[in-house]
Amino acid sequence: MTDTVRNRFVLFVLCSIALAVFISGAIDLFAEEKKVDARRIYNNNCAKCHGKFGKPTKRGQRLGTPTFSSRFWQVSVTDERIIKAITYGTKNMPGWRKELTPEEIKAAARWVRVLGKKRR
Ligand code: HEC
Repeated sequence: MTDTVRNRFVLFVLCSIALAVFISGAIDLFAEEKKVDARRIYNNNCAKCHGKFGKPTKRGQRLGTPTFSSRFWQVSVTDERIIKAITYGTKNMPGWRKELTPEEIKAAARWVRVLGKKRR
């Protein structure tokens, strides 16, 4: 190998690495944006009855929603029950399986738990 050929080869390898790093960074960024935002899903779909911080709104009170920010309520329900209630609905709450994907429902359920940890 002559020196120039070797230099070109090294340059080629370095450029390839730089390109690979750039592409993988772009993919990560894209994946991050696609990640479901639990709080946004909850605030957009659930807060009108359950309240932004888990305390029932006026409308929620009329329908008899539980208080997510209550520790008593939190320990009285399992994750499975929460996901099932959100998916299929309950007596006074519509099911969300048509509006939300299973990932979004899981995210909303996660946020319901987060509200139990916030003290307000
Ligand atoms: C139209 C008002 C309304 C909206 C909007 C609403 N809910 Fe409800 N939700 C209720 C009511 C009322 C109950 C109490 C159960 C009942 O009486 O049917 C309830 C109960 C629940 C429960 C407890 C179920 C159980 O088994 O104890 C969870 C968890 C829940 N809702 C999550 C959500 C999530 C997450 C969203 C948003 C995707 C949402 N709710 C949107 C009215 C609503």
